[in-house]
Amino acid sequence: MTFMPDFPVIQVLDWGEAEARARSVRDAVFIVEQKVPVELEWDEWDARCAHALALDARSNPVGTARLLPDGHIGRMAVIAGWRGKGVGRALALALLEKARERGMRRIVLHAQTHASGFYRKLGFEISGPEFEEAGIAHVAMSITLGVP
Ligand SMILES: CC(C)(COP(=O)(O)OP(=O)(O)OC[C@H]1O[C@@H](n2cnc3c(N)ncnc32)[C@H](O)[C@@H]1OP(=O)(O)O)[C@@H](O)C(=O)NCCC(=O)NCCS
Repeated sequence: MTFMPDFPVIQVLDWGEAEARARSVRDAVFIVEQKVPVELEWDEWDARCAHALALDARSNPVGTARLLPDGHIGRMAVIAGWRGKGVGRALALALLEKARERGMRRIVLHAQTHASGFYRKLGFEISGPEFEEAGIAHVAMSITLGVP
């Protein structure tokens, strides 16, 4: 009997390996669900980021996020049916681990304000006033990684 894990496997990949699967999650979450304009969703940074992907037992992508070379985390998305099960946290922790490996000390992000509690639980703190991006309220947050 084959063991089928319930919790998705997290992989951190470059854009070449992640693109098709990351696109399917971000299309569903940002473009369709949140109505982010297509031209704002895709940018030149994807090719230079590390991408975390969550894959279910059938290797279907259910979540993604990216780490930019300057220490920004962004494009955090979990498909609706998988939310509230720890997938977002696992994606963030995988990217924080990658950041540590790369010697990054301060990780910053622009959280959608409604999701700031999610990042606070990971240790991020609000570091600036609320602002609007892609028609959605955001707030800057940051975390300083400890030296192991
Ligand atoms: C925000 C998002 C990535 C969270 O992913 P998730 O897989 O549902 O989150 P998790 O299950 O890993 O949650 C981890 C913890 O954060 C909490 N949490 C999750 N979403 C939260 C939110 N919006 N506000 C406050 N807390 C939240 C969970 O309750 C959980 O708490 P616990 O440790 O006490 O159990 C997901 O809801 C999502 O993709 N939303 C749509 C896209 C989006 O808004 N992305 C954020 C862009 S900044």
